[in-house]
Amino acid sequence: MQIDLLTLFPDFFTTPLGASMLSRAQTLGAVRFRVLNLRDFCPDRHKVADDRPFGGGPGMVMKIEPLVAAIRAVRAEAPMVRVILLTPQGRVLTQDKARELAQQQHLLLICGHYEGVDERLRHYIDEELSLGDYVLTGGEIPALAVADAVTRLLPGVLGGEGATEEESFQDGLLEHPHYTRPRIFEGHEVPEVLLSGDHRRIARWRREQALLKTAQERPDLLARARLDPEDRRFLAALGMAAEE
Ligand SMILES: C[S@@+](CC[C@H](N)C(=O)[O-])C[C@H]1O[C@@H](n2cnc3c(N)ncnc32)[C@H](O)[C@@H]1O
Repeated sequence: MQIDLLTLFPDFFTTPLGASMLSRAQTLGAVRFRVLNLRDFCPDRHKVADDRPFGGGPGMVMKIEPLVAAIRAVRAEAPMVRVILLTPQGRVLTQDKARELAQQQHLLLICGHYEGVDERLRHYIDEELSLGDYVLTGGEIPALAVADAVTRLLPGVLGGEGATEEESFQDGLLEHPHYTRPRIFEGHEVPEVLLSGDHRRIARWRREQALLKTAQERPDLLARARLDPEDRRFLAALGMAAEE
């Protein structure tokens, strides 16, 4: 997969793309990142990428010409590229969306800044994605979040098939808790079942903990989760029945 990041601040990406899983994924050949400087697509001598808003008001608006020139340049070499604008006005990024994007061959992630982009850009993109219901200064952090969420799903990146299978949201639930040594820390003990060596009991306990955590923290997820009759019995016994 190729992931292009279009930004006014290319240096922003140097460390995140060069560290941890995102760096390893590139070394493995699972993904190629390319940071595109929006100023390289500005037609004028001064490389101006923003202008004052029509109708007045505070702040600057990102001009449409360089943005469209960049999209056209990428589409010319990769017609199948999925063009995504990061904006608080888009659909919120979910694990399902990350899985869908991980099937693509090429993503172009557009980072806004200032007051945002000229509204007419919406005629030239495929979709809009938001990181959540809050406003950040620029689209660089949301673009990195998309790149990370997608890249870790690419085959081989996390080492071992199924490495993401039990993670939060995979089956609509938050993940079960994890523990490692020491067995007791300042009086807080690791649950006995995890030391039992009984894999069936451990699997059931983990499932129940995932159900419990989701019911407590994200009841909205529980309503849509894939639950079996045993899950429903467990929740009912706690007085936390999931909606049918
Ligand atoms: C300060 S924001 C502009 C916010 C815009 N004036 C509004 O109220 O919708 C500048 C840029 O940051 C990015 N951004 C900010 N918050 C975001 C979020 N929650 N999700 C995705 N992108 C975001 C977008 O690219 C946006 O164009």
